Amino acid sequence: MGYNLLKGKRGIIFGALNDMSIAWKVAEKAHEEGALITLSNTPVACRMGEVVELGKRLNAEIIPADATSVHDLENVFTKSMDVLGGKIDFVLHSIGMSLNVRKKRLYHDLDYNFLDKTLDISAISFHKMLQVAFKMDAVSEGGSVLALSYVAAQRTLYGYNDMADAKALLESIARSFGYIYGREKKVRVNTISQSPTVTTAGSGVKGIDGLIDFSDRMSPLGNASADDCANYCITLFSDLTKKVTMQNLFHDGGFSSVGMSQRAMSQYEKSFDCDCQD
Ligand SMILES: NC(=O)c1ccc[n+]([C@@H]2O[C@H](COP(=O)([O-])OP(=O)(O)OC[C@H]3O[C@@H](n4cnc5c(N)ncnc54)[C@H](O)[C@@H]3O)[C@@H](O)[C@H]2O)c1
Repeated sequence: MGYNLLKGKRGIIFGALNDMSIAWKVAEKAHEEGALITLSNTPVACRMGEVVELGKRLNAEIIPADATSVHDLENVFTKSMDVLGGKIDFVLHSIGMSLNVRKKRLYHDLDYNFLDKTLDISAISFHKMLQVAFKMDAVSEGGSVLALSYVAAQRTLYGYNDMADAKALLESIARSFGYIYGREKKVRVNTISQSPTVTTAGSGVKGIDGLIDFSDRMSPLGNASADDCANYCITLFSDLTKKVTMQNLFHDGGFSSVGMSQRAMSQYEKSFDCDCQD
């Protein structure tokens, strides 16, 4: 059941690939909450992917764009304003990709061309999106722009590789641009730091299953699902959070604030009870 939290609002959602994608869930919930939206993804994902079906179901135009191309992004904002009938109230950047992760290059053996791509696709594209929107004055006053991050930006988690550096940059861009966008146009810019989640991008991370299980057990509320994340995104697009900006907001069942849980401690102590050598 919706609450009409986004009634009359216009939004652009980048990054819905399939029904596991966080952006897919956000698109469904934004629609349910009364928003009019457009969807964007890479030309290949738009041509071959399931996003076409989502677009039909939600009555949302699909506008292909490589998020590293300023030209493509200008086209997304121009067409979206045209199709939706005015300035944009909310934008979701739900984009991430690392060739180092995909090709199993370890962090102490990075391919630097791949690293350039990781940073461009996963972080600098957020700056490009914000700069395009700012210059075109495409986002309405009180609007909200969100990107999705992960706690590996603050703490080292085995296997997250160069995506950790991309997320640190992404969060910094939200603060730096958020200051200017807030001051000049009253637009909010935030990142949500989401629990590890089973999606196409998430599945590429080395040891992801163990990581998901570990953070689920360490979090007092357990991991946040993609659906939970979508609900949180909706609140940040809504008028209920008008003074929240330049923040990295943890959405992880409490994981980021836990040092040692009771259960983990007893498991740790048990490990000394065995006959194995120290
Ligand atoms: N899954 C997790 O565990 C997790 C946890 C925290 C944060 N996140 C972040 O959430 C966001 C969404 O990822 P997801 O988990 O839903 O996976 P996903 O694979 O469904 O989404 C990633 C999207 O990025 C798009 N993309 C890749 N290169 C692009 C480019 N050049 N231009 C435009 N789009 C491009 C892909 O087509 C895809 O739709 C990412 O930023 C990811 O890092 C994911």
